Amino acid sequence: MAVLEIVTVPHPVLRRKAEPIRDEEFGPELERLAHDMIETMRAAPGVGLAAPQVNISKRLIVVEYEDEEEGIPHQLYAVANPRIVRVSPRRVWGVEGCLSIPGMLGEVERAYAITVVGRTPLGQPLRLDLEGWVARIFQHEIDHLNGILFTDRARRVWRASEEEEALTAV
Ligand code: CO
Repeated sequence: MAVLEIVTVPHPVLRRKAEPIRDEEFGPELERLAHDMIETMRAAPGVGLAAPQVNISKRLIVVEYEDEEEGIPHQLYAVANPRIVRVSPRRVWGVEGCLSIPGMLGEVERAYAITVVGRTPLGQPLRLDLEGWVARIFQHEIDHLNGILFTDRARRVWRASEEEEALTAV
């Protein structure tokens, strides 16, 4: 496994619409890329990463989250061609950062709960009902696949302290 280089703004790959993973691309090689992205996310450290952030314009994301205090167990996802098929009417504001926009945080409104469909890197179909922070991270990562950054959606953006940044980087 390898830690990949994370690109930052204004790298143009971050503004490109990423390519769908084609049927013949599913398999061990895509799984290896997902593992490298997980290593990269953990090294950053962050709680989510999209392939364009490692300069690969393909529709693949990884998300890892847990919150012992809130009783949310450890969850790790690698999803190819993720697509949001349901959003809750309830929307919530929350603070986000981005590994590709170091040092900045912003307040972003997201759907509280979503359903995401996609496939694992080996090609198994996935359907995920997500809520709260994990749903927020997925919405942030799927935005990356469409060339959208959290600063496009934020109502307020500010410079983070290091401590704040570590909690929220995606
Ligand atoms: Co990001």
